[in-house]
Amino acid sequence: MVRKGLTLLLMTGAVLGVGGCGIWDHGAQEENIPEYVFTYAENQAEDYPTAQGAVRFAQLVYERTGGKIEIQVNAGGSLGDERGIIKQMRFGGIDFARISLSSLADFIPKLNVLQMPYLYTDANHMWEVLEGEIGDDFLNSFEGSGLVAMSWYDAGARNFYNTKKPVECLEDMKGMKIRVQESEVMQRMVRALGGIPVPLPYDQVYSALETGEIDGAENNWASYDSEGHYRVASYYTVDEHTRVPELQLVSEVTWNKLSDEYKTIIRECAQESALYERELWEKRSQESERRVRESGCHVVELTAEEKARFQEAMIPIYGEFCSDYMEIIEAIMEAGR
Ligand code: GCU
Repeated sequence: MVRKGLTLLLMTGAVLGVGGCGIWDHGAQEENIPEYVFTYAENQAEDYPTAQGAVRFAQLVYERTGGKIEIQVNAGGSLGDERGIIKQMRFGGIDFARISLSSLADFIPKLNVLQMPYLYTDANHMWEVLEGEIGDDFLNSFEGSGLVAMSWYDAGARNFYNTKKPVECLEDMKGMKIRVQESEVMQRMVRALGGIPVPLPYDQVYSALETGEIDGAENNWASYDSEGHYRVASYYTVDEHTRVPELQLVSEVTWNKLSDEYKTIIRECAQESALYERELWEKRSQESERRVRESGCHVVELTAEEKARFQEAMIPIYGEFCSDYMEIIEAIMEAGR
């Protein structure tokens, strides 16, 4: 088995690349050579809650398998953008990842349900759904996708921001070129508000804002801060148009190599790391909001009346993308009442 670990290490060497951050020192640990060395892709910076959650996950797995499974976390998007990562995972080129649900939903359309605009009343409502039977059913709905879903991570609520002007009402969105994730639903949301959607990978947003290729984008406080978007697009509008959870995933090819014992350990560690990420999320989100406000950004809180107009403009999206899943949507809404 030692040989298998070594071979895998060599085989995955090209994928691990220079960006791979080994968390453990292997010097003088010949006895403890891992049986498996896996790659984990994360497109956020190393200090971001999801990346910290990934490191915790890798540490827990290492400990609980007695050092037999090593997972190398590649943060900062060093293994590529989310769509590319999903494609590679489907044939086992990358083993693990944390991916935004939006990036997955074009591959697994049922997931669109969970990112419908204004679906949840607040974060508690979303967590009640994700941690209950509905969330479990979604985790189990990846069959045939080449991916296995392990746990949910938090990503707060998304808001619009731009380089031009304060957005205070629906009319202010008109004609704005807004970067969205590479997701049909996200594009449709911007169109419903009168904007022009520009799908782009996450790592290209900063320069697109800077060069004027786009007027704005939308994301949570932590991403707006972490990627430095607030420095080039200083008008932020708290409209909370959607909450898009994150998923921790493993490639099915990788999964099928593992014993039942390892699978159980990995699932448990994924779940524990998710709880850790949620704690970090709360703190980071508040810190980011404070940093952004103190930097002098212009923050608009959308009035309840305007929020209702945003919401109304986006209602048709439910029928267009989720007509087959209306019962689930009803159940989600019911959980929030
Ligand atoms: C969030 C999410 C990322 C995603 C990004 C985006 O920040 O955590 O995984 O790539 O949104 O807008 O693309």
